[in-house]
Amino acid sequence: MARLQLSSVTKSYGDFKAVDDVSLEIADGEFLVLLGPSGCGKTTTLRIVAGFVEPTAGSVRLGKDDITALPPWKRNAGLVFQSYALFPHMTVNENIAFGLEMRRMPKAEMAPKITEALRLVRLDHLGDRLPRQLSGGQQQRVALARALVFRPDVLLLDEPLSNLDAKLRGEVRVEIRELQRKLGLTTVMVTHDQEEALTMADRLVVMSEGRIRQIGSQQDLYERPAEKFVADFVGRSTFIDGRRDGPGRFVSAGGLIVACEGNGSGSASLALRPERLALMSAAAAAMDNCFPGTVEFISYLGSQVDLHVRLSPKERVIVQIQNRPEAPLPVIGEQVHVGWSKSTGRVFQS
Ligand SMILES: Nc1ncnc2c1ncn2[C@@H]1O[C@H](COP(=O)(O)OP(=O)(O)OP(=O)(O)O)[C@@H](O)[C@H]1O
Ligand SMILES: [Mg+2]
Repeated sequence: MARLQLSSVTKSYGDFKAVDDVSLEIADGEFLVLLGPSGCGKTTTLRIVAGFVEPTAGSVRLGKDDITALPPWKRNAGLVFQSYALFPHMTVNENIAFGLEMRRMPKAEMAPKITEALRLVRLDHLGDRLPRQLSGGQQQRVALARALVFRPDVLLLDEPLSNLDAKLRGEVRVEIRELQRKLGLTTVMVTHDQEEALTMADRLVVMSEGRIRQIGSQQDLYERPAEKFVADFVGRSTFIDGRRDGPGRFVSAGGLIVACEGNGSGSASLALRPERLALMSAAAAAMDNCFPGTVEFISYLGSQVDLHVRLSPKERVIVQIQNRPEAPLPVIGEQVHVGWSKSTGRVFQS
């Protein structure tokens, strides 16, 4: 049974729908990530689950209970926000105790719970410090301890890592995920960072303009994006505009004839993953989907190199190649051949 269930949830502000008919089921112990660009309705969705925003329509269930009309403090949800929102004048221990006091827990019962929560986030030794005496990563972990201390039924994380530097973000990501697994906590995390989403999620929900565009695993979204927006937002894609021209054929605006899967006619867009494109030998030029081009730009990324290759006056693609010492890199202006398999290109009607 779903632990948490949103059914046709909509939130309107006047004529504008911040969340538009969102339905979702989150399984017990699942780590679900809501991913989407700024303003797409992620935080609003999370705040509806937490009870801080009342939906205009639809319902939220936690386990067997309809919690749509319950105030936040009667929902057993642990929250961690983007800004750590710790009380600056309270120690770490007092910050964590706050949620327990709100729930009217007797003082004597609190101490072991606080110790346990701090141990979980590996900050046992810092309970007496003030937030300003902690690093960003430590403050974030206090915020997490504060959300965990009352053993929530569901953990809600809103961009919890966005204030951390890249290295720390990587570490705290792993910590949060391991802790969540250990405790079997049903979790919904919001982020606009696709790498964070892909590395942390059991399942992902891609949103734009208040609506769900696709729900699925990493592979579903990456290999089988349901629409152009998803192909663009998850992973990298180069898009080539043109039209479908009968079964298995796409013709680009610049006149390239591309073999592809599927059928149809009319204007369309071909999405190509840079890492699925390859440099071919000139001998392959007669094959399907092998086109001559000129290297116009090179970006060196260490283990990989992006080549921006012009295939026609209207088309330029990115080819990501491995940087290997034995293979000399092309130079700007060099003539190359670029190829890809028929199944690589995905065509979206436009
Ligand atoms: N109280 C409000 N009144 C009017 N509009 C609102 C209100 N709260 C949110 N919105 C609008 O609803 C949309 C969704 O906001 P939301 O905060 O959910 O976005 P988000 O996906 O979390 O974005 P970000 O990644 O920038 O945090 C935005 O266009 C926002 O301006
Ligand atoms: Mg937000």
